Amino acid sequence: MSDAIAACLAGALSADLAIARCLLQGESAATLRARIAQARTDSAAWHALDRLCAEAGLLERLQHMIAAASVDHAGPRDPAAVAAMFDRAVAVSPEASVALYSLGDPDRLATATQEVIAWLRSARWLRPDMDVLDLGCGIGRLIAELASQARSVTGLDVSARMIAEATRRCAGWTNVRLLVGSGHDLAELANASQDLVLAVDSVPYLVQAGVADLHAAEIARVLRPNGVWVILNLAYGWPREAEIATATAWCERFHFVPRLLGDAPFRHWDASGFVLQKPDWMDFS
Ligand SMILES: C[S@@+](CC[C@H](N)C(=O)[O-])C[C@H]1O[C@@H](n2cnc3c(N)ncnc32)[C@H](O)[C@@H]1O
Repeated sequence: MSDAIAACLAGALSADLAIARCLLQGESAATLRARIAQARTDSAAWHALDRLCAEAGLLERLQHMIAAASVDHAGPRDPAAVAAMFDRAVAVSPEASVALYSLGDPDRLATATQEVIAWLRSARWLRPDMDVLDLGCGIGRLIAELASQARSVTGLDVSARMIAEATRRCAGWTNVRLLVGSGHDLAELANASQDLVLAVDSVPYLVQAGVADLHAAEIARVLRPNGVWVILNLAYGWPREAEIATATAWCERFHFVPRLLGDAPFRHWDASGFVLQKPDWMDFS
């Protein structure tokens, strides 16, 4: 039994996340379905897994999306290869391409999105007088929520197809701009122009492409004094201590103050959370 299914049965991982993890690790839909059937217990967790297995074609669709996009969380890739991967993924399933644990379901994705927005608001990392950069914005699922709660939102992504989908979904918001970036820097953004840089499941790809340190320097440049960089998931497959060590190194090198280091703040999603704040004495404007 894979760790993800065992973790789900032990109550440590939701059924959605467990299924997404197994498929991402390359397990086939058929094998996964058979293993879950074999692991039958009377627990609520097993019944949740079983219900997902019974949804017609669900596991196969996700397996197809992973294969069609060649989704791969291992090994170095340059930003152009990451862009090509997400161009392919969004064409198969927009929702699954940004959050496989949504299992391609808009309602599941909306629930997870609302939880992120509520957390940002309650911690006051998001306020109405803020200019926000959504770095690696994907289909714009967060932008559609942020637009009504911030002064302006810039969505930047290396995938042109992601930005095309975000443009469709965010039509009508006059305080939103969407940009295709090079993936190497934040050249489109002026010094000290943002109050919040939000990076939801995008930093792992910067790490994978070897451009994360460059982006940390760029984020220090584009944030206003006291601005914050919120990272939800810093790297995939790393022990939490390694993620914390990297965030701590960015703080030392680029003078961020750590406000949150690796906690998992959500119920619907097991992301690690990092909040790095630019000190008020640091001004690039
Ligand atoms: C897993 S998706 C998450 C999308 C969005 N943040 C969300 O949570 O819905 C990761 C996104 O990061 C983008 N991305 C990866 N590397 C990037 C880079 N170097 N610059 C900008 N965007 C990048 C991908 O194109 C993709 O849209």
